[in-house]
Amino acid sequence: MTTAQRPDGATDPKARPISPGTQGDDGEQDVRLRPARLDDFVGQPQVRENLSIAMQAARIRGEALDHVVIYGPPGLGKTTLANIIAHEMGSTIKVTSGPAIERASDIASILTSLQPNDVLFIDEIHRLNRAVEEVMYSAMEDFFLSWVVGKGLSARSINLRINPFTLVGATTRYSLVSAPLRDRFGSVFRLDYYSDDDMETVVNRSARILDIEAEGEGLHEVAVRSRGTPRIANRLLRRARDYALVRADNRVTGPVARESLDRLGVDARGLDETDHRLLSNIIEKFDGGPVGLDTLSASLSEDASTVMEVLEPFLLQQGFLDRTPRGRVATRLAYEYLGWPWSGSGVDPSKQGQLFVD
Ligand SMILES: Nc1ncnc2c1ncn2[C@@H]1O[C@H](COP(=O)(O)OP(=O)(O)OP(=O)(O)O)[C@@H](O)[C@H]1O
Ligand SMILES: [Mg+2]
Repeated sequence: MTTAQRPDGATDPKARPISPGTQGDDGEQDVRLRPARLDDFVGQPQVRENLSIAMQAARIRGEALDHVVIYGPPGLGKTTLANIIAHEMGSTIKVTSGPAIERASDIASILTSLQPNDVLFIDEIHRLNRAVEEVMYSAMEDFFLSWVVGKGLSARSINLRINPFTLVGATTRYSLVSAPLRDRFGSVFRLDYYSDDDMETVVNRSARILDIEAEGEGLHEVAVRSRGTPRIANRLLRRARDYALVRADNRVTGPVARESLDRLGVDARGLDETDHRLLSNIIEKFDGGPVGLDTLSASLSEDASTVMEVLEPFLLQQGFLDRTPRGRVATRLAYEYLGWPWSGSGVDPSKQGQLFVD
C-alpha cells in the first residue's frame, strides 16, 4: 500500500487518496460534477424534502428564503447545496468565507452590495470573528446594518437598511458556531455520509457526465471504496479511469477498478494504510484499548487533532472504532477485518454510548 509520507514519517492527511478535502484537480472537477438542481442532488432525503418545502413556500410568498446553515464532514455537498439554493430561487450567489471577512466594514460592504433575495454563502461560518458576527445579527434579523466606525471621540455609528437576502452558512464544525448566530438561522441541515446505494448513484452520474466507459461492477467498486463521500468517489473514479486508459482497454471494469484502487492503497471498504495502522496499533500495542487520544496519537506520530478530526470519524461511523469514557477501543469488526482473533476484550458494551471525554 502507498500513502503520502512526510519526511518525519507521519502521513500527510491531506494527500491521502481518500482524504475528503479538495486536492489536485478536485476543485475544477467539483464544479463540473456539481448538480445544479435539487432533483439531481443524490441522497440526504430529509434535507432535500425540507429544503424543497422551504424554497417553495418562499417562492409562493415572493420572499427571500429564510437563512440556512448546512453542516457535516467535508465533501458531502454543502457548497453544492448552497449553489442549488441560489439556482432554484432564481437568485445570484455571492461566495465568501469566515476567515476572509476581517472587519465589520468588510461584511458591511458585502451586505450593502446584495440585490433583493440574493444568496450570500459564507463557508466556514464558525470562523467569523466577533465584530463581524455582531453586524450579522441585525442584518439577518431585520435586514438592518449598524456598526461603529472610527475610535474614541471621532467614533460614529452608521445605520443602514439593506435588501432582503438569504444567508447560507456552511461548516464542518457546527459546535463552534456561536449560540446567537445559530439562533438566527431558520433551518439547520445536517449532511450525513451517503449509503452505498446513494454512492453508486453518484458514481454512475459522474461516469455519465465525464463520458467514462465503465461496467456496473467497476462503478460499484468505486462507490463502496469512497467512504460515503461524493468528492472521494469522483476522485477515485478519475483515478480508475486513468488506470483503465493506460493499463486496460479504457474501460472501468470490476477488476480494473479493484486493481487501480488497490494500487492507490484504498482497500475494499475504503480504508487506507493510515486507517490500518491506527486500528492495528490499538490492537497490537494497546491490547485493543481503551487507549487515550494523546497516547494513541503519539504511537502513530500524528497530531491529536489530526487523529480526532481526520482519521477517526470514518472509522467510528463504520463501526471499526469506538470511543468510551476511558479511551479508544478497536471493535470486534476491526479485529475480524484485520484478521486478528477476537479476544472479546475490546468494547465493553456497558460503556458504549457514553459521552467520551479526552
Ligand atoms: N448529493 C450529491 N449528489 C451528487 N454529487 C454530489 C453530492 N454532494 C456532493 N457531490 C459532489 O461532491 C463534490 C464535493 O461537494 P461539495 O464541494 O459541495 O462538498 P462540501 O461539503 O462543500 O465540502 P467542504 O467541506 O470540503 O467544503 C461536488 O462537487 C459534487 O460533484
Ligand atoms: Mg464546500
